[in-house]
Amino acid sequence: MRTWCGNLNLSYLGRAVLLKGWVQRVRDLGSLVFVDLRDRTGVVQVVGGKELAQLRPEWVVEIRGTVREREAKNPNIPTGDVEVEAQEIKVLNTSRTPPFPVSDQVEAGEDVRLKFRYMDLRRPRMQRNLVLRHRMAMAVRKYLDSQEFLEIETPILTRSTPEGARDFLVPSRNYPGRFYALPQSPQIFKQLLMVSGMERYYQFARCFRDEDLRADRQPEFTQIDLEMSFVEEGDVMGVAEGLVREAFAAAGIELNPPFPVMGYREAMERFGSDSPDLRIPYEIRKLSHLGDGGNRIVASALEAGGEFLGLKIQEGLSRREIEALDEEVKSMGGRGILWMKKSEKGFSGSLRGEDSWREKIAEELGLESGDAALFMAGKGVEKFLGLLRERIAQFKGLNPRGFKPVWITDFPLFELDEGGRLSSNHHPFTSPREEDIPLLEKEPLKVRARAYDLVINGVEIGGGSIRIHRAELQRRILDLLGVAPERFSFLLEALEYGAPPHGGIAFGFDRMVMMAAGEESIRDVIAFPKTTSALCLLTGAPSEVDPEQLRELKIKIIS
Ligand code: AMO
Repeated sequence: MRTWCGNLNLSYLGRAVLLKGWVQRVRDLGSLVFVDLRDRTGVVQVVGGKELAQLRPEWVVEIRGTVREREAKNPNIPTGDVEVEAQEIKVLNTSRTPPFPVSDQVEAGEDVRLKFRYMDLRRPRMQRNLVLRHRMAMAVRKYLDSQEFLEIETPILTRSTPEGARDFLVPSRNYPGRFYALPQSPQIFKQLLMVSGMERYYQFARCFRDEDLRADRQPEFTQIDLEMSFVEEGDVMGVAEGLVREAFAAAGIELNPPFPVMGYREAMERFGSDSPDLRIPYEIRKLSHLGDGGNRIVASALEAGGEFLGLKIQEGLSRREIEALDEEVKSMGGRGILWMKKSEKGFSGSLRGEDSWREKIAEELGLESGDAALFMAGKGVEKFLGLLRERIAQFKGLNPRGFKPVWITDFPLFELDEGGRLSSNHHPFTSPREEDIPLLEKEPLKVRARAYDLVINGVEIGGGSIRIHRAELQRRILDLLGVAPERFSFLLEALEYGAPPHGGIAFGFDRMVMMAAGEESIRDVIAFPKTTSALCLLTGAPSEVDPEQLRELKIKIIS
């Protein structure tokens, strides 16, 4: 029987073992040859004679031998107390010279790593990440099973579900000119499952969105998607907290629900973001009530109905850093920042104005000697200060540790899109708050949604809502959004056949694993991810297809 390399320790002394794995390294000392042999569980040292010297990195071998205590122990690896004295070696396969060493010490470029992903995945770090992903998935399944959820699959070839991104389309051969859409989420199907009386559904659902990619966004990604009947916000949030607790516990991280809840308005006012990283100590303060102190920039912003906001930075910032932040704000379309520093000698900086006014500002912000503050004046400027909070934390190398979850609630139901049209903040199936329903037609932007997002350390890891379960209200919302009801006639019809009140949530599973693994990118916790330009470097997808296939689909490429 085979023994795993990583399991070997002093309890195996004298035992005959059969190891199978990959050659990590060969050290030929002449009469003695050392080979590090690796399998999924770890690395162990094998020692033998000349017959080992023929081996090369990444060859696949089978070795029979006896476990003995090492003379020079290696405290850096779990098997470092022992080695295996080789008696029989069989080469199962050879390997070309690897494009990069299979080791966590050497960081190859990501393009090469993704092209040779099967080699990259041999590295301990990637193996650890995929093992962690599996463990977290198992913990979630176990938890949801204990809460009476059923795992049900929903279609991949389907109709468009609006989640705010572009669809990936699949042409139909049987019906030329018609297309399936890959699901942006299983949203409509999970609601239909509630109409079906399934009560509690979940799925590890693959979702597809053709949108701009970033470190935490992939064109296809995995959601832990769930839906419950006869519930209100608190019920879904409670189950969600249990799920997140169990998932992180599987990674050895302790989270203690209930998590704090913060309204959208408060999050924007204090942190300039609807997904604030609460580990960063800086908070935005509204200073509009202090007037303009003779400062023309502030005066004109306040006159135009804008706000005057400040952000205190303990222990200041260098002038260079402030200039860099100013540039950054301008590159994002802002008008630049004002700043002030307090020292023994008084105030300095670009925030000119009456001394008494600056004194009041300093008091309001609690500025001590050596502290600095950044200011912005205008409409909607809090989002820039929100970004500055994060950037300054980076500048100062704050490198905050730990996990700070927070629920964000009371989102506006609608927002205005670039063309000034009403669009859903989440998706069109989110229920408005009961007391705001009368505002729908008159003041739609004031209507609050029964939605909740879970944010951990500034990353939105999940979002959900209580849904509209009455056809009449759903029609009204689609109408306000300018969506033809025929597009969702099947859903509207289903709601007319006894749809129970229901709600749910979906978590970005890749993001959850990324956080638990301490990785910066979701690509590092997905076995075969795409690049930020949506390419699969391993297979070369997307690729051109055979003209015959296009003819069958009646598709002509125009350039
Ligand atoms: P939402 O669009 O907020 O909600 O998605 C839920 C969670 O999925 C993750 N996520 C992503 N992860 C990686 N790459 C992406 N491109 C990507 N897009 C989203 C985020 C996000 O919080 N149907 C609703 C859920 C519901 O209402 O129940 C939905 O899909 O972590």
